[in-house]
Amino acid sequence: MKKRGLFITFEGPDGSGKTTQIHLLKEWLEAKGHHCVLSREPGGTVISEKIREIILDKEHKEMDPRAEALLYAAARAQHVAQVIEPALTEGTMVICDRFTDSSMAYQAYGRGLGEGVEVINRFATDGLGPDVTFLMRLAPSEGKNRISGRENDRMELEKLDFHERVYEGYKALERDYPDRIIGIDASGTIEAIHQVIVKRMEELL
Ligand code: TYD
Repeated sequence: MKKRGLFITFEGPDGSGKTTQIHLLKEWLEAKGHHCVLSREPGGTVISEKIREIILDKEHKEMDPRAEALLYAAARAQHVAQVIEPALTEGTMVICDRFTDSSMAYQAYGRGLGEGVEVINRFATDGLGPDVTFLMRLAPSEGKNRISGRENDRMELEKLDFHERVYEGYKALERDYPDRIIGIDASGTIEAIHQVIVKRMEELL
């Protein structure tokens, strides 16, 4: 039987530099001979990308918070079943830009939906969770500055107080899952952040 791959997720506010670190980690893992799959949420499959379009469409101002939470969970269910679980079973490393912690931070804390979000996500993922999560810590005001040049989606257009609650949510998750979630100061240099990630990965491999 093949050794199961590791499920690695990246979390943090918009504009916190996740993408850069994800690519550096992929290169590092591949240099060590590991197969890697990169993916993102919401998305990662044809069906999940269609759900993503519905969720992030700026015109959908009337979207109910519970509908939003369920759509993220639906996109995730498809992603887990079609991409993540099969890859892990094959022994492939899966690096995912956002996962259930995003729903906890944005929907449970940001939207104030609370524990129901955890329940629907446990159902959606069939209990699958990351082996390790790198959380890029960045104050919401700073994140907004970093993405100010690009066109904003429906979530990014939310007011600062929403993003403050998301930030508090991430801090709470970090406290609740200290063994899994590695908080990293996103204001560090690209190389310094990469080194923190590599150190943890060496422990896990
Ligand atoms: P995306 O452009 O992928 O985010 P990023 O800023 O990381 O590039 O957009 C995803 C948006 O959806 C982002 O604002 C976070 C939000 N989101 C949730 O609210 N809940 C979730 O479960 C996920 C996966 C994302």
